[in-house]
Amino acid sequence: MNLETTYLGLVLPSPLVASAGPLTRSVTGIRRLAAAGVGAVVLPSLFEEQIRREAERDAALAEAGSESFGEALSYLPAATGDGEPLQYLSLIERASTAVKVPVIASLNGATTGGWTAYASSMQSAGAAALELNIYYLHGDPLTPARDVEERYIEILSAVRAAVTIPIAVKLAPYLSSMGEMATRLQRAGANGLVLFNRFMQSDIDPDTLTVTSGLTLSNPVEGVLPRSWIARLRGTVVPLSLAASTGVESAHDVAAYLLAGADVVMSTSSLLRHGPEHAVALLDGLQAWMARKGFVSLEQVRGRLSPGRGADAAAYGRSSYLATIDEATHTYAPG
Ligand SMILES: Cc1cc2nc3c(=O)[nH]c(=O)nc-3n(C[C@H](O)[C@H](O)[C@H](O)COP(=O)(O)O)c2cc1C
Repeated sequence: MNLETTYLGLVLPSPLVASAGPLTRSVTGIRRLAAAGVGAVVLPSLFEEQIRREAERDAALAEAGSESFGEALSYLPAATGDGEPLQYLSLIERASTAVKVPVIASLNGATTGGWTAYASSMQSAGAAALELNIYYLHGDPLTPARDVEERYIEILSAVRAAVTIPIAVKLAPYLSSMGEMATRLQRAGANGLVLFNRFMQSDIDPDTLTVTSGLTLSNPVEGVLPRSWIARLRGTVVPLSLAASTGVESAHDVAAYLLAGADVVMSTSSLLRHGPEHAVALLDGLQAWMARKGFVSLEQVRGRLSPGRGADAAAYGRSSYLATIDEATHTYAPG
């Protein structure tokens, strides 16, 4: 069965994409993922903080002059010469020549500033597209919602000005009006959206009275939120590619995201849990499901259960919420 897919204007051999994470950190991992059938890989993010650190280090070295070179290195905590941004460009170059599938670079930040210009180096290094992860939790709880949204637009506009390759914006699910925001992002130059960024924050341990690492892998239940938004946006923000991210464990989850209207379905957790070759199981399972249901192409599947394609729009809104509460009450209420 032909699983060819278009995402961000790029032609992919399959709709399964390895999202940013540890497996795409090395060319070996990327080769294994491509051999297992993923349609594209997203590299782990290069963070705003890494770019700034490198720029500060360079500035300090220039100021100190060549005679004080050693001294400058010793007082800068981050001045280890590890050159993370340069290593990142090297990874883009090596990965792009190692595999045929598109290699998407990821830039991750939350403020406006010179770091966004680094996108242009990523394009020059061979990135087929850019994923812009705007992980912005505003510090002041009284920040107006419009200011938060404006930050997204400013960052995207700066990156858009630096590159000509397609850009997908990886969003958090906490924006009040996702459709309007999607439209504004599209006008500011986004070619696609990745829904959603996972909330990766520290947590609280009441036993040790400490703040602990929040790292967990996802589970399929977490897919309900992004799936719901993809279904609502499909058909509303037509020119934007939509990528699903979070909670894919089996072919069942991939199929559900496609039915909601995702152009591509991404996975990090399941590929970490089961290894890169799990992509084979996901794609074989998808094809088996399509055959069972009588679908012969992805076009027949994609968006089939999105309200935009004539299904019941209210089913994704309040009536769906009330029906769920009602079902839960009947299931769990005593007597
Ligand atoms: C260990 C780990 C590292 C990750 N690193 C990044 C990253 O560098 N940049 C990014 O945008 N997302 C990163 N993510 C988020 C994933 O790309 C993905 O959006 C998220 O895990 C939800 O997908 P999943 O349910 O398939 O894991 C990371 C996730 C994990 C688990």
